[in-house]
Amino acid sequence: MNGRVAAANGRPEGRPSRQINVILRSQEPPVLSSAVPEKEPAPAQKSVVQHTLYQEIQKELDKLVGLENIKEFVFEIYALLQIAHLRQEAGLVSGGQVYHMVFKGNPGTGKTTVARIIAKLFQKMGVLSKGHLIEVERADLVGEYIGHTAQKTRDLVKKALGGILFIDEAYSLARGGEKDFGKEAIDTLVKAMEDHKNQFVLILAGYSDEIDYFLQTNPGLPSRFPIQIEFPDYTVDQLIQISELMAKERDYILMPQAIMKLRQHLIQEKNETEHAFSNARYVRNMIEKSIRNQAVRLLNLYSNTNPGKLELMTLRTEDFKLEAKGST
Ligand SMILES: Nc1ncnc2c1ncn2[C@@H]1O[C@H](COP(=O)(O)OP(=O)(O)OP(=O)(O)O)[C@@H](O)[C@H]1O
Ligand SMILES: [Mg+2]
Repeated sequence: MNGRVAAANGRPEGRPSRQINVILRSQEPPVLSSAVPEKEPAPAQKSVVQHTLYQEIQKELDKLVGLENIKEFVFEIYALLQIAHLRQEAGLVSGGQVYHMVFKGNPGTGKTTVARIIAKLFQKMGVLSKGHLIEVERADLVGEYIGHTAQKTRDLVKKALGGILFIDEAYSLARGGEKDFGKEAIDTLVKAMEDHKNQFVLILAGYSDEIDYFLQTNPGLPSRFPIQIEFPDYTVDQLIQISELMAKERDYILMPQAIMKLRQHLIQEKNETEHAFSNARYVRNMIEKSIRNQAVRLLNLYSNTNPGKLELMTLRTEDFKLEAKGST
């Protein structure tokens, strides 16, 4: 899978041609063992046609700014499943992969969004029957008396069958130590992973160091989560791109001066916020607040006439009433 890097401009436009690179015949001559016939029969046409399956997933990934490592990873999973399918057809050993994952990153770095896309990919590729996402946190899993937690956890696993069970801030399950009901939830989850093998995918999400700590609390855990993905904080440039995208999706445009103001504010927030900066979620809240401010400004401004279409679309500097220090 090496060499599948983003196009020079950082956007993954190169990917469509890359899709067609996944064919059964390698460009380099394979090392032949005695078990491999010297002459391969002509490959079936079908393998290329199947890539249309990936197009919808690719469209969703393309909407996301940055996250190049994650886009690569999703394509890897797709390639693996596609090849496993072809290997199965060719009578070769296939499958046996474990897809439980750990997502490490700060708030608002796209973890839930990516989990939804992966759920859809698994559904399309036949790994999961439904492809839905059940997102839970400690309070959803942990009960109030002995036995309650196991029941709550089992019920949620049941709901997640055929899809993904996504546990946010998973480390909080290990917070209270041995006597805490969180431990009961972990034990129940580990058992469910055995009992319902291949029927659901478990994703644990949270801050990097806390997730590492969590995995250490139970010797059975690390090997059950072979896939670990880092969600890095967005750069200020990426946050600006995300703001413009979010405005566009809502049929708004940002004035250049507003973008400048936003940029200054983001630089300051990222540097000065003591608690974890909430990345794209912070930006989304800012855009939504500015949309409310614009509505009030327009109503006050146009008491006798109606604002024109452009005015309805435009977010100006004064719509961004930005307060310093973690205002989300
Ligand atoms: N790379 C991106 N490009 C565009 N929008 C993004 C990107 N990453 C996240 N977003 C948007 O930011 C918001 C927050 O993303 P998401 O909920 O996936 O983050 P998260 O990591 O799950 O956050 P949390 O840890 O707080 O649950 C969503 O509206 C999402 O669409
Ligand atoms: Mg989330």
